Amino acid sequence: MQNSRRGAVDPFIVMDVMEAARAAEAAGRSVIHMEVGQPGTPAPEGARRALAKALEEDALGYTVALGLPALRARIAKLYGEWYNVDLDPARVVVTPGSSGAFLLAFTGLFDAGDRVVLGKPGYPSYRQILRALDLEPVEIETKPENRLQPVPAELRDTAFDGLLVASPSNPTGTMLNKDAMEALVGLCADKGAAFISDEIYHGVEYEAKAVTALEVSDDVVVINSFSKYFSMTGWRAGWMVVPPGMVRQIERLAQNLFICAPHASQVTALAAMDCEEELQGNLAVYAANRKLMLEGLPKAGFDRIAPPDGAFYIYADVSHLTDDSRAFAAEILDGTGVAVTPGLDFDPARGAGTLRFSYARSTADIIEGLARLQTYMATRQQKP
Ligand SMILES: Cc1ncc(COP(=O)(O)O)c(C=O)c1O
Repeated sequence: MQNSRRGAVDPFIVMDVMEAARAAEAAGRSVIHMEVGQPGTPAPEGARRALAKALEEDALGYTVALGLPALRARIAKLYGEWYNVDLDPARVVVTPGSSGAFLLAFTGLFDAGDRVVLGKPGYPSYRQILRALDLEPVEIETKPENRLQPVPAELRDTAFDGLLVASPSNPTGTMLNKDAMEALVGLCADKGAAFISDEIYHGVEYEAKAVTALEVSDDVVVINSFSKYFSMTGWRAGWMVVPPGMVRQIERLAQNLFICAPHASQVTALAAMDCEEELQGNLAVYAANRKLMLEGLPKAGFDRIAPPDGAFYIYADVSHLTDDSRAFAAEILDGTGVAVTPGLDFDPARGAGTLRFSYARSTADIIEGLARLQTYMATRQQKP
């Protein structure tokens, strides 16, 4: 049998780093995980209790394709609480993680060959999912002066069918403010292109609240997830908000592609949305970690960094220290037991000179990791 051409997507390099970290741990070394993009905390306690009750009382069979009505209503309410946006629950679709939402959005919006603009650096799976669907990722190199987010001037002369932005972004943690969001949504409207906003890191913000694209327009697709702020990566629960005219299209696709998001995870997610105190506690840990990282990384020689507005990553320019971030990450793991992610996943060209540090784990881990990095880098300041 022959493999398809469109299925030949690139591997996720961070997975190789995770495997190297696992092997080091299996060999008895202590590893500090600054490579992983997920909270170290479980789903909130109240959510786990709600699931335990449901396991006793409910068969937890399929749900309807768009998701449990109570969960869709609770998600709509969140838009009132977080952004003062009045959202009709009929426009909310519960998905198997935001990853499931990308599949639905891309198949619901685009035909084979359509061109979808992505900013580089960005979350690598966007381009791989697009390729697997025979769509064309159009990647633009974002600029440090624009905080590594796309701006309309870079796109005016480009033909495209869709634009996907992430705010806060992975790997940079930078956000689009309302003016920047408005300008990009306006550009897409002028060009008749779809606007997709990945808002998976909303809730994990430090100085200002992130802006949802729904504050700007109803003619957008918003994608979000229970993975990050709600600390539920492995549960595979996310959601999307679509324009009213798109609900039925997405419903038909969801029925056929997934049937539904996992029922047990939907029950857990619904209860998680009312565990504000525990989730704010997690956020306070990220905020403390962020402060430590912003002080500690420059002392280790990683001083070319921009303070992240949200998420739990710091993206560092290390081009003065290496021109091979993959080898550098391996060297750091070997020399310090700290696992970090080379930028190549996020930006195949410029990523050779960047690293992503995650601070989603405990504060004790961050303190230890920074101390190890500082000790090691004190003797290794130049390109080898
Ligand atoms: C920017 C971004 N979008 C989407 C995802 C996928 O998340 P999930 O499928 O768990 O919702 C991730 C995961 O790290 C991410 O960083």
